[in-house]
Amino acid sequence: MTDYVVDESTIFETPLVELDLGLTSEATVYAKVEWFNLYDAPHGGGSVKSRIAKGMLDGAEARGDLEPGVTVIEPTSGNTGSEVARLASDRGYDVEIVMPDNAAGGKVEAVRDAGATIHFVDANRGYDAVIEECEGIIAADPDAYYRPNQYENPDNPGTHERTTAREIYEATDGDVTHFVAGVGTGGTVTGTGRGLIDLSDGDVEIVGFEPDEPLHAIDGLKYLKTGDHYHPETYDESVLDETAYVTTDDAYDRARELRERYLDRAVPIADSGKHDEATVREHLRVDDQFVVGTSAGGGAAAVAGLDEAGALADDDVVVFMLCDRGDKYADIPLWDAYLS
Ligand SMILES: Cc1ncc(COP(=O)(O)O)c(C=O)c1O
Repeated sequence: MTDYVVDESTIFETPLVELDLGLTSEATVYAKVEWFNLYDAPHGGGSVKSRIAKGMLDGAEARGDLEPGVTVIEPTSGNTGSEVARLASDRGYDVEIVMPDNAAGGKVEAVRDAGATIHFVDANRGYDAVIEECEGIIAADPDAYYRPNQYENPDNPGTHERTTAREIYEATDGDVTHFVAGVGTGGTVTGTGRGLIDLSDGDVEIVGFEPDEPLHAIDGLKYLKTGDHYHPETYDESVLDETAYVTTDDAYDRARELRERYLDRAVPIADSGKHDEATVREHLRVDDQFVVGTSAGGGAAAVAGLDEAGALADDDVVVFMLCDRGDKYADIPLWDAYLS
């Protein structure tokens, strides 16, 4: 356990930073730095999932679906587990998280620190086994549990529609022309996409990206292109103008490039949201390195792909997500290659 105290007021209004991705076009590229949600939490701060953890718990409490004495349970390989565990524990609920046993160490530690019980499932059994294990636990005592269910809960895309979209629209003075986000539950791209389309009267391109093959190492993303995959209800492809496919190598190369490119350089802060500039600068880097998670590298690769395809004009304004910080992945097999 750590002495970290959850401060939900740090969730939302994350800063935008301007990145030079070395594009051919002169389009402006902003990244939304999502680890500023719960930025002072141990194990890499919070993530894009702090938003939906709050949105889903607030919604459940308001509807009376979640009441004192009920245990919150969620099957997840990653960030949703740590964020639900942190927020629900802080609100006084017991929490159980069902995870594959190869989940990144930083995420496991964050769940543990929050005092949640972890049920590990053999990763070789696939992700469906994680969901089945969770459903089995609930079935044994249905009244004892509340499952937020990020794959079906409308509060997942709904939170992004209310918050992420408005934040991006306001921070770019309405100039955003492209929004690029990876697909896991699809909540980010669906909800933010809907919100931006609404705010801009349809004057924005929404681009989702997926790994280009089922066996990938881009943490947080799902491959849904072909085959009999579970399509989350939270993912509405009709919101998207385009789906891009990103290789694991490109995602890691781009993540490494961001680290190298910004090692010695101040990143321009376009809009610091609720955090002052000094705080943003302090938490932008880890040990003086700009270390992003692998799906953030995937986002940079997807933006570069648009540029290579000639889809970006010089006056375009592109926003993509830095979903989480990279240091929570330090124990995954590809990490050393990424850092070296
Ligand atoms: C690091 C990371 N990136 C991207 C995503 C995808 O976000 P969404 O589930 O909203 O599609 C996730 C979701 O788990 C994630 O953890």
